Amino acid sequence: MIQEVFGRFLHDFKDNPINWVLAAALIYMVQAILFPSVRGAPATETGTAPETSDTRAADQASSSKKASPAASSSVTPASRDKIKHPETVVFKEYTMRELLPYNGADGSPNGKIYMAVSGKVFDVSRGANFYGPQGPYGNFAGQDASRGLAKGTFEKDILPDVGKPIDTLEDLNAEERDALKDWESLFVSKYPQVGVLVNEKDA
Ligand code: HEM
Repeated sequence: MIQEVFGRFLHDFKDNPINWVLAAALIYMVQAILFPSVRGAPATETGTAPETSDTRAADQASSSKKASPAASSSVTPASRDKIKHPETVVFKEYTMRELLPYNGADGSPNGKIYMAVSGKVFDVSRGANFYGPQGPYGNFAGQDASRGLAKGTFEKDILPDVGKPIDTLEDLNAEERDALKDWESLFVSKYPQVGVLVNEKDA
């Protein structure tokens, strides 16, 4: 039965030349889908245009300029010296005293603003509008801001004494703890952490 149907199909198929054209197009498309790298791979993978007589002529014309690899590269030893290495972050331990200079004022190391929240030290330099000397929360710059954030005040007298051990925050109530957790999440999502806050060795 199947053979009979198939035979009749073949018979009808071969009599019409349009079927042959369609079959060829179908085979071409199937192989292009199954083996995409076989045809046109250099053009699609490298982004270069397929070679034409025009591009060949252009290549030949410019071949004298490509005499050496150095000449063909736009990076010369001189320009390489000017390329800036991406900024690196050294994850460190900071005492409150070591954190102090990172307050965004003149003389701040590399002009950076750091701030501690729940024992984590963040680089908040990109929030200089908030934490810079003229910013509304400038008091937090170079400081452990945990207690102030928890209690919702940025007055200077909320900041812990630098000479004393790190604020344990044990007296915070549930609401203040939640508030501090929310602030911590914000800082984690927004600013790079550059270290942790630690006590001075003799504290
Ligand atoms: C008078 C009430 C306050 C107003 C109207 C106010 C308003 C604002 C506004 C508009 C922003 C910018 C938000 C953004 O663009 O993402 C902001 C950010 C901030 N606020 Fe307040 N704020 C107030 C009180 C406080 C208090 C009491 C604290 C905590 C101690 C505080 C801490 C902060 C901090 C740390 C940021 C910056 C967060 C970041 O780095 O993205 N604010 N505030």
